[in-house]
Amino acid sequence: MSNEKQFRLKTKFIAARNVKEYRDTIPTWVTKDDVVLEIGCEWGTTTVQIAPLCKEVIGTDVSLECIERARQKHPGIRFEVLDAFDARAALALGKRFTKIYIDMSGLSGYRSLLDVISLLTMYATVLRPEAIIVKSGALKHFASHCVPWRGDRLRAVPQEDAAEAGDGS
Ligand SMILES: C[S@@+](CC[C@H](N)C(=O)[O-])C[C@H]1O[C@@H](n2cnc3c(N)ncnc32)[C@H](O)[C@@H]1O
Repeated sequence: MSNEKQFRLKTKFIAARNVKEYRDTIPTWVTKDDVVLEIGCEWGTTTVQIAPLCKEVIGTDVSLECIERARQKHPGIRFEVLDAFDARAALALGKRFTKIYIDMSGLSGYRSLLDVISLLTMYATVLRPEAIIVKSGALKHFASHCVPWRGDRLRAVPQEDAAEAGDGS
């Protein structure tokens, strides 16, 4: 059963539709004091783009083969084997991560939406980063249709309908 504390997360969730959008977020969301965790780094192509913009980055993947290849390709960057669903192993990396990037295979379709949401909530709760950027077209699509109710009828109405409803602005 949920309680109020569960929803007091400060973490922002940013959903990108594809790998281009995922990488396009880097200049906006990564800053020089950030300690960044990438989950699902494969060969480190995105990790290497994050590295020059932040204090520290660790690229992680469930596949040892990927991690070995990433280490060979980018010897200056730290890469570790990590299963995304093992949040305790992420905690054991011993860093105060401020931003988390997630790009895992198997998270793209609508059927995986609950997995995406539970993964985001788990990392927001356990590691408490400022933001988690996730590659999930399904989440982006779903989130774009969500409007949080704030008790103000006009705010909850889409812009074009607001004018008709007498908004006047
Ligand atoms: C599309 S690739 C990532 C591409 C990479 N982020 C980039 O920008 O180049 C998806 C990766 O997710 C990894 N993956 C799948 N399941 C995972 C899990 N449970 N934990 C961590 N990584 C996982 C795969 O091994 C694969 O390398």
